[in-house]
Amino acid sequence: MKGLILSGGTGTRMRPFTYSRAKQLLPVANKPVLHYCMDFLVAAGIREIGVIVGDTHKQIKASLGDGSKWGAAVAYIHQDQPRGLAHAVLQAADFVGDSSFVMVLGDNLIEEDLTTFLAKFNPTTHAAAIVLREVANPRQFGVAKVAGDEILYLVEKPAEPPSNLAIMGIYLFTPHIFAAARAIKPSARGELEITDAIQYLIEKGHKVRPLTATGQWYDVGSAADLLRANTRVLNSKLAPGKVIIPASTTVINSKIEGPTIIGESCEIVNSYIGPHTSVGDGCSIVNCSVLNSILFDHSSIRNLPWVIESSVIADNAALVGPPGTSVKITAGSNCTINF
Ligand code: TTP
Repeated sequence: MKGLILSGGTGTRMRPFTYSRAKQLLPVANKPVLHYCMDFLVAAGIREIGVIVGDTHKQIKASLGDGSKWGAAVAYIHQDQPRGLAHAVLQAADFVGDSSFVMVLGDNLIEEDLTTFLAKFNPTTHAAAIVLREVANPRQFGVAKVAGDEILYLVEKPAEPPSNLAIMGIYLFTPHIFAAARAIKPSARGELEITDAIQYLIEKGHKVRPLTATGQWYDVGSAADLLRANTRVLNSKLAPGKVIIPASTTVINSKIEGPTIIGESCEIVNSYIGPHTSVGDGCSIVNCSVLNSILFDHSSIRNLPWVIESSVIADNAALVGPPGTSVKITAGSNCTINF
C-alpha cells in the first residue's frame, strides 16, 4: 500500500496567505497541515509516499525533504496545472504502478486512525473505498448513497441530498482509478473531478466500499477554517489551560492562558495571550492582548489598544500602535483589516 498526498492547487480561498506560502504549509498549532498528513499515513505503516506538487514545489520539498524525518520515502510528482483531483491522481500512475494506494488532500487535517480503514478495504473485491462522514449540511459536499457495504452513487453538492454522508478526503484506490480518470471529461468548472472518476467506476460495475469516519477532520480551505482547526487541535493536544513555552522564549510581566502554544525565541512583554492562540517562532508581542489567533513566524504586534481576536497574522507582518488621530497602513492585496 502506497500513499499519495495532493499538495498542488492554487489556494485561492486562502489568500492573501497563499501569495507567499503553500496552503498545505500553513500552520495549525505551529505545525504545517501537510505534516499532519504525513503523520496520518506513516502511523498506518505507509512508507512510500508520493506528493503531488505544483507552483509551490520548492517550499513543499524544503518542508518534507526526502521523508526520512518520518522514516518514509517521499517521491515528488509534478502537476503542470491544477486541473482537478482526478487529473492529479493521473500524474501518479507511474509512481503507483500496480499497487493499491491511499490518497489524502494535503490541506486536510485528519485525526483518524487509517489502520482501521485499511483493515476494511479488500482490493480484490472493491476497486475503491471512500471515507464518509455524517454532516449536518450535506448540500455543501460530495454526498454518497449507500446500501450495505456498497456505494450506489455519488453526487456533488446536491440540492436534495440522498443522505447526510459526505465525502471526507480520504480515498483508498486500486489502479482501476487511472482508467476511470482517463475516461471522464472535465466538469463545468473545467476540472477532472475525482467524484466523477469514482462514479465512473461504479457505472462500469466495480464495487466501491463506504467507510465511516468518526474522528476529527478539518478541511483547511479558508482563514476561518484555519482558526477553527487551530482551536480544535490545541483542545485535543493540550490539557485545558496548558501552555507550551520553550526556554528560548522570554516572557515578562505577561499572562498566558492555555491551551496555547508559543514558538522558539519569542518576546512577550506586558501582554495577555488568551486561549487557542498559536504563536510561531521569533514573534514579538508587546503591550497587547491577543486570543484565539494565529501568528506565523517572525510576526509582531506592539502597543495595540484593541484586543486582537480571531486573527491570522502572516510571517514578518507587523502591527504597531498606538494610533493617533490617523493610522498608517501598508496592506497587501486581499488583506482584511477590521477596526
Ligand atoms: P482544493 O482546495 O479543492 O483546491 P485549491 O487548493 O486550488 O484551493 P482553492 O479552491 O481555494 O483555489 O484542493 C484540495 C487539495 O488538493 C489541496 O491540497 C490542493 C490539491 N490539489 C492538487 O494537488 N491538484 C489539483 O489539481 C487540485 C484542484 C487540488
